[in-house]
Amino acid sequence: MTQFVIHGGKKLQGEVEISGAKNAAVAILPAAFLVDGECRIENIPQISDVTLLLESMADMGAEIRTVNRTTMDIRCRGLSYREPGPAMGEIRASYYFIGALLGRFGQARVPMPGGCDIGVRPIDQHLKGMRAMGAEVSVEGGYVNAKARNGRLHGANIYLDVVSVGATMNIMLAAALAKGKTVIENAAREPHIVDLANFLNAMGADIRGAGTSVIRVFGADRLRGGAYTIIPDQIEAGTYLAAAAAAGGDVLVKGVIPKHLFSITAKLEEMGCEIIDMGDMVRIRRDGRLHTANVKTMPYPGFPTDMQPQIVTCLARAGGTSVVTEDVWDNRFKYVSELAKMGAKIQVDGKVAVIEGVERLSGATVKACDLRAGAAMVIAGLSAEGVTRVTEIHHIQRGYEDLVQKLRGLGADICEEEVSEEPESSKNLA
Ligand code: EPU
Repeated sequence: MTQFVIHGGKKLQGEVEISGAKNAAVAILPAAFLVDGECRIENIPQISDVTLLLESMADMGAEIRTVNRTTMDIRCRGLSYREPGPAMGEIRASYYFIGALLGRFGQARVPMPGGCDIGVRPIDQHLKGMRAMGAEVSVEGGYVNAKARNGRLHGANIYLDVVSVGATMNIMLAAALAKGKTVIENAAREPHIVDLANFLNAMGADIRGAGTSVIRVFGADRLRGGAYTIIPDQIEAGTYLAAAAAAGGDVLVKGVIPKHLFSITAKLEEMGCEIIDMGDMVRIRRDGRLHTANVKTMPYPGFPTDMQPQIVTCLARAGGTSVVTEDVWDNRFKYVSELAKMGAKIQVDGKVAVIEGVERLSGATVKACDLRAGAAMVIAGLSAEGVTRVTEIHHIQRGYEDLVQKLRGLGADICEEEVSEEPESSKNLA
């Protein structure tokens, strides 16, 4: 078992390069199944969710050639239908195989998606979209089974009852090769939605309006292939900004699209950080105690839920009381009990956390409850006095490339440590 060991209290100083966006990559890679040709995909993040996806795609017959560390050529020409293995049930993004396989082959059998435990995570809106496009869909034995009634999906008008990133992207995937026009109303507007549309358009699709709440997909007969570069990860960039805000210092976050970060940088400015937009870089400087702020998570362009644990951790040491409302997921405050071990004073009532800033946090052994909560534990460790050990880091490795190396590059005292598993008999089973 590996854990992170952090000697906190050091200011962060220097530059960090941001990797490709996880939540774009996990849709764009399955989208390669729609392409009856070869696509070159650049800026693929080196994270465990991506490794799992690529392994599964290779098992399903995709020919994958590594060009360099972050670039792959994926060839799905002349492929016949194969379904993803049960390992895909471990990650959330497995649901994108439903849209991609249905679109290309008119059928899909995919394990129900896993991912972070942050509340009820239904996929009813995805399935409603597939049904509207002429698929028969059932969920049995932990699998989603879908089949296009006439062998090929057809266009449809689909209104999403909730603004859903996954449903918007899945319907775009399914519609790219459907017969006729699909209109998605009340679509999500996240940067990764625009990225998926740009990828598909670069392969020959005709998708208009991505980034607005109405997306029109004019189904193509074939996608021919091409080259595409994935956008930088908005949440990884936000996480390093939050780390600098919490630990203090002067950090240049490089290779970003500042517009995608606006809700985060605006909040950090409100909290007393100096933010300098430098085109494709953002510089953050922070000295002295952070100010309080109230935050409410919302779909883009609102404050992202995937930055909620990191911002709460910053506010845990602010000079006063802050209120953070989680309005996307119904159970995303579980990590608060871990922060409490470090001295944080946070009261949670349903979707609202009231954070009474304390002067200092002290190191403790805390666990990464999920991906972003894990990142928050690292941030807490960097800003705390003493030694923090973060366990269950496999959650963090699902979505952050080289976190330890990147933080060490900023002067943080963080390393990985191997520990032997506690024998079952010595565990406190009470
Ligand atoms: N929802 C439904 N029905 C659906 C789909 C969603 O009721 O069919 C509800 C959800 O329960 C939730 C809200 O709609 O309350 C938004 O869910 P959404 O579908 O947007 O989330 P997702 O697509 O499952 C993606 C990211 C999450 C991120 C959310 C919101 C991926 C693989 N995951 O999830 O990322 O929190 O969008 O931005 O893209 C993370 O990266 O740490 C992470 C959890």
